[in-house]
Amino acid sequence: MSIYGDYIKSVIRTVPDWPQAGVNFRDITPLLQNSAAFRKLIDSFVHRYQELEVDAVAAIDARGFIIGAPLAYELGCSFVPVRKKGKLPFKTISETYSLEYGESSVELHSDAFQKGDRIVVMDDLIATGGTMLAAAKLIQRSGGHVVETATIVDLPELGGSEKIRQSGHNVFAVCS
Ligand code: PRP
Ligand code: HPA
Repeated sequence: MSIYGDYIKSVIRTVPDWPQAGVNFRDITPLLQNSAAFRKLIDSFVHRYQELEVDAVAAIDARGFIIGAPLAYELGCSFVPVRKKGKLPFKTISETYSLEYGESSVELHSDAFQKGDRIVVMDDLIATGGTMLAAAKLIQRSGGHVVETATIVDLPELGGSEKIRQSGHNVFAVCS
């Protein structure tokens, strides 16, 4: 957890029963609307990664883009989008993962990285961990080295961050 973890948590809104009954949705829009909080959030990630020789931030469609782009800008490294299926125009590699009902896929351009590039994988939230793990697999398949998977919110009771750690990746969450 970051030093700003409690503060960041305090500006994330919980919306009960959305998108369906029984789900407590963690809504980051109040955090994004609060310029001081948004700056502290991005600074938390910059502070963590600025000495780690990161070559690229790979951010996950769609909310990962909101934090991945300013982080890449501040680190002075590449920004690479990991997109939902069918959105990237050039040659892609794809990874499919399970959802509660059915499955989904994420894709990466085949020329996104050079072999050995050091990559931070970024998303807004880890729930079951399926999305983040699929993105990390894509990066490994394309020859990249996953420095860490990073998120604003981890929901540890869903076991996703533990699953990602058991797959050999570091996980950094600003708050839980
Ligand atoms: C949410 C969230 C993560 C993912 C986490 O994205 O932004 O990407 O789910 O869930 P998991 O750990 O169980 O895989 P969503 O699929 O809702 O897409 P969006 O960002 O386009 O709204
Ligand atoms: N918030 C945002 N995205 C999510 C959530 C949530 O609570 N659960 C699964 N994906």
